[in-house]
Amino acid sequence: ESKRSTKVLQILELVASYYHNALENAPKVIDYLKSRGVSSKSVQNFMLGYSPSSEDLVSFLKKEGVLDAYEKTGNLIKLDEGVYRDLFAGRIIIPIRDEKGNCIAFGGRLLQEGHPKYINSPESEFFKKRSVVFGLHQAREYIKEMGFVVVVEGYFDVISMHQEGYKNTVAPLGTAFSQDHAKVLSKYTKNAVLLFDGDNAGKKAVKLATPYLLFQGVNVKVAYLPEGEDPDTMARKDKEGLRTLIQNAQDIFQILIEEIKEGKSSSLKDFLYYASFVKDKVYQHELIKLASSASGLPVSLLYEQMPKVQKVEE
Ligand code: CTP
Ligand code: MN
Ligand code: MN
Ligand code: MN
Ligand code: MN
Repeated sequence: ESKRSTKVLQILELVASYYHNALENAPKVIDYLKSRGVSSKSVQNFMLGYSPSSEDLVSFLKKEGVLDAYEKTGNLIKLDEGVYRDLFAGRIIIPIRDEKGNCIAFGGRLLQEGHPKYINSPESEFFKKRSVVFGLHQAREYIKEMGFVVVVEGYFDVISMHQEGYKNTVAPLGTAFSQDHAKVLSKYTKNAVLLFDGDNAGKKAVKLATPYLLFQGVNVKVAYLPEGEDPDTMARKDKEGLRTLIQNAQDIFQILIEEIKEGKSSSLKDFLYYASFVKDKVYQHELIKLASSASGLPVSLLYEQMPKVQKVEE
């Protein structure tokens, strides 16, 4: 069984290099990446690639003698005898790697506007979307060294951030940030900076991710991007602004304390909601005392108002 796993991982790596090599004959893809400001160093680092067509991939797989084995990964669909479809045909390929660097899946982006903009490999024994952290293999040393992780939303956010020197950046994969993501990251650091897109979805994502991180004992700082920007666009438009944002990222509780002082009652509610996920009771008590002096309400009342359920809902 583990022999079979090794074999599947080898085939996925083989296909990743096939896609990567296909870039050489795809000037329009190289132009696209250039137009996005992706350097050739980033193309190499992330081993970005391109799928020219289903037929081309199939003939490569036949030549390598791994057609049937690759079909089992679900990335290649057999429609009929001798008729296959590569899920990623015509797309830019982003290999998805586990913590050790094994290629376990692919992400694929359209070169032009259209739907769906991104697709990912189907789930498998190797690829569990809810626990894979994109970029972690490259970022993990830097996360330890720098003492914090930057969490962004997308593939190209990770790529641009690494390119700009923020090599401690990772992203969940097209799914909301989950308990599993928080568990994985908490092995490397107890400090996270959330740098989500400057839109409503990004703000909602902060609310979803924060409880999971706090529950794993990870402190959460938040940097809010200007409306309409994501880390990738920001890295290109305003490098200095991006740097300042990350440097000035504020602890989520600190942000809320300021708002509570201004009399914002929804912020007090949010504060107590987040505080309920803090497992360290001494720290939780400190937080409640802070909220008490900011709001003028007694500590006992705030404890009463704090949601009781400690468990993060699935
Ligand atoms: N995503 C996905 N499927 C989609 C749209 C998004 O899986 N149809 C995931 C991708 O991992 C994407 C992330 O969600 O990177 C963030 O989505 P979004 O902000 O919409 O895309 P960007 O990463 O900004 O995409 P790009 O810059 O390439 O347009
Ligand atoms: Mn190369
Ligand atoms: Mn988004
Ligand atoms: Mn985005
Ligand atoms: Mn983007």
